[in-house]
Amino acid sequence: MNALVRRGVARAGIPCIWRGKCFSSGNEPAESRQVTPMLRHLMYKIKSTGPITVAEYMKEVLTNPAKLLGVWFVSEWMSSGKSSAFQLVELGPGRGTLTGDILRVFSQLGSVLKNCDISVHLVEVSPKLSELQALTLTEEKLPLERDADSLVYMKGVSKSGIPVSWYRDLKDVPKGYSFYLAHEFFDVLPVHKFQKTPQGWREVLVDIDPRVSDKLRFVLAPCATPAEAFIQHDERRDHVEVCPDAGIIIQELAQRIALTGGAALIADYGHDGTKTDTFRGFCGHQLHDVLIAPGTADLTADVDFSYLRRMAQGKVASLGPVEQRTFLKNMGIDVRLKVLLDKADEASVKQQLLRGYDMLMNPQKMGERFNFFALLPHQRLHGASQERNARQSKTPTSSVAGFDELVWQ
Ligand SMILES: C[S@@+](CC[C@H](N)C(=O)[O-])C[C@H]1O[C@@H](n2cnc3c(N)ncnc32)[C@H](O)[C@@H]1O
Repeated sequence: MNALVRRGVARAGIPCIWRGKCFSSGNEPAESRQVTPMLRHLMYKIKSTGPITVAEYMKEVLTNPAKLLGVWFVSEWMSSGKSSAFQLVELGPGRGTLTGDILRVFSQLGSVLKNCDISVHLVEVSPKLSELQALTLTEEKLPLERDADSLVYMKGVSKSGIPVSWYRDLKDVPKGYSFYLAHEFFDVLPVHKFQKTPQGWREVLVDIDPRVSDKLRFVLAPCATPAEAFIQHDERRDHVEVCPDAGIIIQELAQRIALTGGAALIADYGHDGTKTDTFRGFCGHQLHDVLIAPGTADLTADVDFSYLRRMAQGKVASLGPVEQRTFLKNMGIDVRLKVLLDKADEASVKQQLLRGYDMLMNPQKMGERFNFFALLPHQRLHGASQERNARQSKTPTSSVAGFDELVWQ
């Protein structure tokens, strides 16, 4: 959601640092170069990680929905009893911009969180990206601690004084009360693909094409393969993608949340067990044949949320998936848009705002394709429904932000 728009619009995802041509003359009058807090934020972001796409710029300026994720975590922290400490754990933080946005929200809500001891834990396998994350998130005057042989391979301190630690595996993150975020993380995990045949399920394999030199092709395995165990016995689709790594991570998240509380918010392109062949390549924001020039494109497969729900094995409650347009509406994006529109003097700014809103909310763009899914302790929902029944009017329901419309009865 944050920096990432894709499938027909644009795809940011893995960072690409480049020096683009400058189209601005730089001779604009001084008054048009007013330094707003947003300009300062964007300058910082661009200095840290390179030029951003126009889509990213629009979303940052317009609604910055990433900020709503920070609000979601604070809302869950409050609804579950305002613990004296929590860990914010992000899986696959990319450039670190989402966690950066969330920490800014935490700073803005300083009076609410002032007695809470917060730490940030990033699970990242790419050494290159972990360096970028450190650049985005940590105070440059304080040197990073590095230990490649340790489970915590890097440590730093955020600009607002919050300790930040890096791990290669979720299992290595301390098992404390935590809020987990996985944003465009599950869709990059490897999937196994299966095709239903008269002989039963057959796995799709990548083979050398004997007819063309240096070319790969898909073939079907001649007999059953072990990953077939991940397919449901009553599966009705004739082609499925299964992601064992996602299953392992969800089981770990579910165990942790059941044991120590907290919540996980998973945001990704995906479906609820309905889609079939979603394995795609993206290169330079364009669709790219997955078997051509391997290593040059980002490979993704839509997340099957029904599989994630199954893998939680009832240890925790799951909510969603809900489409982005519903989630953002429930999180108050319309009110935010109205405030911004009221504040905007120029017609061009109003138009930009509406275009940005359309990109996030339009079902043909990100509104329906991007989904939100949450894992919560059973008592969080169970408690909420009991409370709701017992409640009198004029008090807010204890619904889960984003998944329920936050109404005042
Ligand atoms: C598409 S990026 C998502 C970036 C970020 N979450 C965002 O939305 O802006 C995927 C991220 O997951 C990381 N990643 C991929 N596989 C991983 C794994 N098995 N464990 C941890 N991180 C992984 C990548 O290096 C990258 O940081």
